[in-house]
Amino acid sequence: MRRSLKDLQLNDDGRNKMRAAGRFNAQLLDFLRPHVKAGVTTESIDKLCHEYTRDHGHIPAPLNYHGFPKSCCTSVNEVICHGIPDSYVLADGDIVNVDITSIVDGWYGDQSETFLIGDVSQEARQVTQCAFDSLYKAIDAIAPGSKITEIGHAIVGEAERYGFGVVREYVGHGLGKEFHQDPSIPHYPDPRFNRIPLEPGICFTIEPMINVGRYQGIVDPLDNWTVRTIDGKLSAQFEHTILMTEDGPEILTTTEEGPRPGHQF
Ligand code: MF3
Ligand code: CO
Ligand code: CO
Repeated sequence: MRRSLKDLQLNDDGRNKMRAAGRFNAQLLDFLRPHVKAGVTTESIDKLCHEYTRDHGHIPAPLNYHGFPKSCCTSVNEVICHGIPDSYVLADGDIVNVDITSIVDGWYGDQSETFLIGDVSQEARQVTQCAFDSLYKAIDAIAPGSKITEIGHAIVGEAERYGFGVVREYVGHGLGKEFHQDPSIPHYPDPRFNRIPLEPGICFTIEPMINVGRYQGIVDPLDNWTVRTIDGKLSAQFEHTILMTEDGPEILTTTEEGPRPGHQF
């Protein structure tokens, strides 16, 4: 739905609802983190995600979203995003992104983290580091009234240091009482997306997907969800939900136990 800036700016009540949704989602990720390890299936992570969310009286947003069959996305190695949890057993050397979204009292929190399973290749470590650092560089680059292209400039600048590709097909998004709403937040600078300035009260995600090789992906024709890199090379991603305030960006999905800005993988 295409909406104007004014419709998207949350008042104090909306902001507090989004803070609560982000806080629960982060707590869910803290709960899942120790379970993301070699020897577990991705569907066991999904089951834990589903049960924890329901036990706390909330709703896992991915389940049945446009027909998505599970409660979170688990994207392993060359999967860029929208991996479907299944019987795959995580193994030493894998990287896996776990993307979780909760609906708390009608409001959404959305975030993801890439995990290194055991001993991984240098390339796997680097692409994960690049995705993580580029997210925080993008957050650092914005202030009230910023143009959306500041985000893309920061992310592409970081990816270029490694010669990595920035995914263009999938973007960050406004978030509130809907999963995906205006504004679209591309991770590369495209001035066509500057229609809505990042004024206080706007809530959105930043979720850069970084590929070791080419930026293009292909959707699995069998499940119509799983997006893999076109060249089969690794991809990593991190995501936060951000509220722009009068004082600057506020990260709503900070975890207690997760990697902090500056973390070395
Ligand atoms: N959580 C993803 C995002 O960051 C969207 C997943 S949609 C699903 O926007 F249907 F695949 F779950
Ligand atoms: Co997400
Ligand atoms: Co998102």
